[in-house]
Amino acid sequence: MRSVSIIGTGLTKFGEHWDKSFRELIAEAGVKAIESAKIEGKTIEAIYGGCMASGRLIGQEHIGALIADQLGLNPIPSTRVEAACASGGVALRSGILAISSGTYDIVAVGGIEKMTEVSTEAASFALGGAGDQETELFHGATFPSLYALMARRHMEEFGTTEEQMAMCSVQAHKNGVNNPHSQFQREITVEDVMQSGYVASPLKLLDCSPITDGAATLILCETEKAKKMGLENAVEIIASTQASDSLALTGRKSLTEMAATKIAVKEAYEKTKLEPKDIDLVELHDCFSIANILAIEDLGFFKKGEGGKAVEKGKTSLNSEISVNPSGGLKCGHPVGATGVKQAIEIFEQLNGTAGKRQVKNAKIGMAHNVGGSGATAVIHIMKKT
Ligand code: COA
Repeated sequence: MRSVSIIGTGLTKFGEHWDKSFRELIAEAGVKAIESAKIEGKTIEAIYGGCMASGRLIGQEHIGALIADQLGLNPIPSTRVEAACASGGVALRSGILAISSGTYDIVAVGGIEKMTEVSTEAASFALGGAGDQETELFHGATFPSLYALMARRHMEEFGTTEEQMAMCSVQAHKNGVNNPHSQFQREITVEDVMQSGYVASPLKLLDCSPITDGAATLILCETEKAKKMGLENAVEIIASTQASDSLALTGRKSLTEMAATKIAVKEAYEKTKLEPKDIDLVELHDCFSIANILAIEDLGFFKKGEGGKAVEKGKTSLNSEISVNPSGGLKCGHPVGATGVKQAIEIFEQLNGTAGKRQVKNAKIGMAHNVGGSGATAVIHIMKKT
C-alpha cells in the first residue's frame, strides 16, 4: 500500500453563518485548500465529502455532486460519505484508501454541515438519526441524554464528578480562545459550567458541543509524489483505522468505554509501533465533556476510570502529559460532517509549527479520533511530519 500525505488545508470559521450558504462554505474551504496545496484544481482526481444530515437540516441531498459542481471540478468522481459525526473522518479514510490502493495520486477530502438553519429541536432530531431510531430516538432519547447515561455510569463506577467533567469544557474553551476558527473565543470557569443549566442531567449546557455551521477541506497526495513536488509542509498519515459497534447503547457490554475506539486505536498503535506516550497531541471527539474522559481512557492515555482525575490534575492541558484538543475541540464548534476533517487540519498545523499561541511544543506525532453517534463508528488517524 502506498503512503499518503496531507499537502493542503482549508477551513471556514466555525459558528453561525447566517450570511453564507451551504455551498458558499464548501467553496470557501475548497478554494483555500487548493491554494494552500499550491496545485491547480484540475490535478485533483476525486473528491470524498463528509456530510451527516443535509437532508434534514437544509433539504439538500446529493452532496458529492454538489461539491464537485460548486468547486468547478466536474466531471471527476465525487462521493458523499456519511457516518454521523464521524462522516469527516471516514471521508478522510476513504480518500487515503483511494490513493494507497493506487487508484489516484491526488484527491480532495471535504467535510460540511450547516446546522443553524433550523431550530435547536429540529437539529436535535436530525442528530438523533445517528443513534438507533427504533430503540432510542423514537422514545425521546436525544444525544445529550445518551451521553448523560454514559456519564452517570462513569460517575457510579469510578467516582467521576460533575466538576471533573466541567474541567474538560474549561480546558477546551481555554484552547479555543487561541483558535481564530473556533466558534467560541471566551474562557469559562468551572462555576460557569456548573451553573449553566441541565440539558440532560448530569450534562449541562456547557458540557455540550454546540450547533455549528462550517466546512473543512484537505488535499491528499501520494507521499513520494508530494516529495517530488517539493511540498515541504506535507504531513504523512501513518495510520488510518476504523471500527464499528452496536448502533444502540443497549447493545453494549459497557457504558463506560467505547469498544470501537479501543479496537481502532489498538490497530493504529500496532501498525505504527507507537505507544500512547509517543503521541504529542490528540484531537479527540469531545462532543460532550464525558466523551473527552472516555476517550482519554480508551485511547490508552490513562487507565479506565482515571480520566476524570487526570483532567482535574491538568494532565491533558496544552503542553502537559498529553495535549488534548489544542484547537478547542468539538466543544468549540462541531459542524458534524466537517469535524473529522478539521481535526486533521489542526494536526497538520501543529506538526508544521504554525498553530500560533496554541502550538504544542516540539509536536512530532499527532492523533485524530472521530466518533459517529454514541460510539458505533470510530476512526483513528496518526500523522507525522515527513
Ligand atoms: N457551549 C457554549 N455556549 C453555548 C452552547 C454550547 N454548547 N450552546 C449554546 N451556547 C450559547 C449560545 O452561543 C448562546 O449565547 P448568547 O446568548 O451569548 O448568544 C446561548 O448559549 C444560548 O444558545 P442557544 O442556541 O439558545 O442554546 P440552545 O439551548 O438552543 O442549545 C444545546 C444548547 C446544548 C441544547 C445545543 O447546543 C445542543 O443540542 N448541543 C449538542 C449538539 C449535539 O448533540 N451534537 C452531536 C453530538 S454527538
